[in-house]
Amino acid sequence: MKNKIRGMRIIVSDTYEEMSKKAATIVAAQVNLKPNSILGLATGGTPVGMYKELVKMYNDDEVDFEDVKSFNLDEYYPIDKTNNQSYYYYMNDNLFKHINMKEDNINIPNGHAEDIEKECYEYDKNIYNSGGIDLQVLGIGTNGHIGFNEPDLTFESGTHKVKLDDETIKANSRFFDSIEEVPKEAISMGMKTIMQSRKILLLANGEAKAKIIEKMLFGEISPNVPASILQLHPHVIVILDKEAAKYIEDKVN
Ligand code: PGA
Repeated sequence: MKNKIRGMRIIVSDTYEEMSKKAATIVAAQVNLKPNSILGLATGGTPVGMYKELVKMYNDDEVDFEDVKSFNLDEYYPIDKTNNQSYYYYMNDNLFKHINMKEDNINIPNGHAEDIEKECYEYDKNIYNSGGIDLQVLGIGTNGHIGFNEPDLTFESGTHKVKLDDETIKANSRFFDSIEEVPKEAISMGMKTIMQSRKILLLANGEAKAKIIEKMLFGEISPNVPASILQLHPHVIVILDKEAAKYIEDKVN
């Protein structure tokens, strides 16, 4: 089933594996069409399957990352790169160590920057000077966050330090030994940078995401559901599995 809501193309896959394959195909197509693409990358449980597929495609010579540059959406703060829960570690483990991206072309906010304001400013400047993001991959939190842009009274525009929501800390505690170990803050790309990406690919799987997907697509556009702003972006592809599409299937059929 495929359909379009405003600028958003909605694709519902039968399984997580199918969702991941479709997402990887879109990322690979972007890189094949523009070998020096600027990719915006996401972490979390959702894109693990997509990265696995991309590594497979790379090993099968179906895609080459030599000239690709990437900017990750976020990183916990404070966290050390060597911590196996850092997004630096995650990206290396799931993607970078398996492919041929140049180290200099990989950008992830520094989770132990001393001067946060400078780190955020430089991160945005670097994205801008690179020509902006061609394809931004996003997951979505059960509270509607994208990156770590948590529900708020306003949309935060540039890269900034955020205080993580209790809901996010709880959701992410599944990756840590205990909830106390989840960092309380993070550095996140802002909404303006995300919205300035030329194309956006948002993935969601599992029933826990079904309600927020309905709100994102059909609810009011509000900083209280940060992902709802994507309704205003002209080029968004949303790939869901059946469970995440539970409340919208009849609306997009
Ligand atoms: P998840 O996180 O992929 O682990 O569900 C998504 C997000 O918080 O953006």
